[in-house]
Amino acid sequence: MNRSDTRRLSVSLIDLGEGHDAEFDTLSTHFEALLLRKEYGRGEVIRDEGHPLRFYALRYWTSAATAEQCHRDPEVQMLTARLYQIARVTHLVNGVRRQDAVRRLLDERRARLEADRRTGFDRRVVDVGRPDGDRRAKPDRRLGPRRVRDRGEDIDLVAAARRAREHADAAFSQFRVGAALETADGTIVTGCNIENATYGLTICAERVAMFKALSDGHRVFTRMAIVADTDTPTPPCGACRQILWEFGGNLEIQLANLKEETETHQLKHLLPLPFDARLLERRTL
Ligand code: THU
Repeated sequence: MNRSDTRRLSVSLIDLGEGHDAEFDTLSTHFEALLLRKEYGRGEVIRDEGHPLRFYALRYWTSAATAEQCHRDPEVQMLTARLYQIARVTHLVNGVRRQDAVRRLLDERRARLEADRRTGFDRRVVDVGRPDGDRRAKPDRRLGPRRVRDRGEDIDLVAAARRAREHADAAFSQFRVGAALETADGTIVTGCNIENATYGLTICAERVAMFKALSDGHRVFTRMAIVADTDTPTPPCGACRQILWEFGGNLEIQLANLKEETETHQLKHLLPLPFDARLLERRTL
């Protein structure tokens, strides 16, 4: 295996809060020196020419293993925690996750099968659910991968949804919504609501994200974050719940506003007694 096969790249988008330039500079210098000193890799920060407070943080990892080591390093965690206080960070490329994208895909598929025994298009046409009463009770309850494996913490889905919300076109309602959908291989696909003069052709952020993802060929999904500028969380509308259910299954739905993440739900609880393709299959002709 040559060097280019083992090296990994991570890229984050950093939107710095005003007045923190000097501290950001110190943090970056410190972090870059640490990467070299501990031989994790090399770091570089590039300013976006178009936005004075926007930066791209590039990390060239020696290998996926050193990247993981770096993420676990308490010294690094202190620097990162401080960075999160002065900037909004969106992970664009996650070099560590890439290494085992296939493994992750399989894990996520398993997690989904454990959760509701259906997945992807199977979920939409074949009812392979357990018959009633066949659920394993407490001590025998199986711990599926979703419950035992750390997942997703390294990707800030809410931050991605907040960023997507900035593109919302809500000229008629002024109600701007952003959504970010995580696919099984860790890709984030975002969406925002888009309104038009007929009102009725408006499309919600959630469906934009889902349709974008489907049209890019993604078929297995894990979570969605939804962000609006409201004190109480903004849950997906009925139409979106239906689409998310049919194409995403029992997604984890994270609701957040501009300051905090407020609630997490499972889609099956937001859409009890769903109508889906399984019911069409039972139709007698
Ligand atoms: N909207 C969404 O994008 N997602 C939701 O979950 C709720 C509503 C949009 C649709 C419309 O553009 C505006 O918010 C007001 O309803």
